[in-house]
Amino acid sequence: MNFYDSQVILEQMKRCGYKETNDERAANLIILNTCSIRAHAEERVFSKLGEIKKLKQEKKELIVGICGCMAQYHRRALFERFKFLDFIVSPSNINRLQNIIEEIKEDKTKVAYLGNFKNSLKNINPDKKGKVSAYLPIMFGCSNFCSYCVVPFLRGKSRSRKLKEIIKEVKELSNQGCREVVLVGQNVTFYGKDLNNEATFSNLLKEINSIENIKRIRFITSHPKDLSEDIINCFSKFPKVCPHIHLPIQSGSDKILSLMNRGYTIKTYQDLVEKLRKEVKNISITTDIMVGFPDETQEDFKDTLNLVEEIKFDQAFTFKYSPRKDTLAFKMKNQVEDKIAKERLQALITFQNKISKKNNEKYLSSIQEVLVEGESSKYEDRLYGRTDNFKTVLFDGSKDIVGRLVKVVIVGYNMRTLKGNILND
Ligand code: 5AD
Ligand code: SF4
Repeated sequence: MNFYDSQVILEQMKRCGYKETNDERAANLIILNTCSIRAHAEERVFSKLGEIKKLKQEKKELIVGICGCMAQYHRRALFERFKFLDFIVSPSNINRLQNIIEEIKEDKTKVAYLGNFKNSLKNINPDKKGKVSAYLPIMFGCSNFCSYCVVPFLRGKSRSRKLKEIIKEVKELSNQGCREVVLVGQNVTFYGKDLNNEATFSNLLKEINSIENIKRIRFITSHPKDLSEDIINCFSKFPKVCPHIHLPIQSGSDKILSLMNRGYTIKTYQDLVEKLRKEVKNISITTDIMVGFPDETQEDFKDTLNLVEEIKFDQAFTFKYSPRKDTLAFKMKNQVEDKIAKERLQALITFQNKISKKNNEKYLSSIQEVLVEGESSKYEDRLYGRTDNFKTVLFDGSKDIVGRLVKVVIVGYNMRTLKGNILND
C-alpha cells in the first residue's frame, strides 16, 4: 500500500513541476513516506530526519515533509520534535499534496492535513507507462481492529473502491503494456462488503480476468476470516488468477489468536489450507507471523513452531510484537520480555528458512512460465521474473524480453529464489 502511495506522491510532485532525483543534496523537496506499524520502522525515519536536518541548515529553501502513517500517529508533536518540518500529511490526504506544496510556497507556514478517513484517493492515477506489473488499490483502511494493530486508527475503516473505477484503471494499464495487476488492500477478501453487495471480490476477479492483455492477476492481503468458498473457487474458475495466496496466520495458539481479536481458530485456518491445496494446483501459501504478543508463553510459541512445521509455508514474514499506543494490546497484562521475544523471533526465522529452502528444492529441473519483470540491479544481462505461484527466478537474458512470458528451466535454488536458464522457443 505504501509503495502505491509513494507513486501517488511522486505523480503529484511531477505535476507541480518537480523532477525525481536520487541525490538528496540536489533535492529542493524531500518527502518521507512513512509506516507506523512497528516502532522499528519509525526509528529509521527519526534517524533519517536527523540527516535531513543538516541538509536544511545548509539549504534554507529546502522543503521537507512527512507523509503516511507517522503523520497521523504522532500528529503535531512531529513539528515540536523536528522544528524544520514544513508539512505533515496523513495517508488519506496525500492526493491533496499539489495544493499543499503551493500553500507552503505562498504562505511559508507549517501545514498539517490529518484525519479525513472518507477520502479514497480517487482521481490520482500514477504514471503507469512501462510497467509490466502494477499495484492497484481496491480498498482503503481496515475495520478489523486486531488488538495489536494501529492501521484502523491511521487509515480509517474499510472503504472499497467502485468496481467500475477499478476496471477502468485496469484497462488503462493493459493499454499501456502492463501484463500483471496486483490488487492491494489491508483485507482484499472484505472487498465489496461495504458497497451494499453491488460488487463482490469474485465479481471483480471475473471482470479483470476478461481484460485482454492482462495475463496475471494477484491480490494481497487476504484475511482467513473472510476467505470464502466463493473466493477460493476463483482460482480455478478464472485462469489468470495466480495460484498464490498471502494468508497471515499471526500465531499457532488459539489463546493468542483470540487475544489478538483475529476472528478465526487454528482449525479454521488448517481447513482453509487443506481446501486451497486440494482445489488449486501448485498453490503457494505465504504468511505473516508475530512472536512475543502479550501473554505468549513458551508453550504458545511451541504451538506456532508446530503449526509452521505442519503447514510448510512457502515464505513467512516474521515480526516481533511492537507495542503501539491506542491499541488494546498496548494495555494488556503479561507483556513479554524483549530478550525472550528476540530469541523466539530468531528461532522462528531459522526454522522457517529451512522450510522455505526445502520447498524450493522440488522446482529443480522443472520448466516454469515466468513473467520477465526487469533487469537485476547488480549484474548486467541478468533478469528476474516470477512464476505464476510467486517464486522469484533469476536468469540470464537481454532486457528486450522484459514484459514477456518465457519458459525457464530451473537449475538452482536457495531459500528465497530459483535460478534458471531460459528455453528458446
Ligand atoms: N507489532 C508487530 N507486528 C505487527 N504487525 C501489525 N502490527 C504489528 C505490531 N504492533 C504485523 C502483522 C501484519 C503485518 C503487516 O505486520 O503480522 O500481518
Ligand atoms: Fe491491522 Fe488486522 Fe487490519 Fe491487518 S487485518 S491491517 S493486522 S487490523
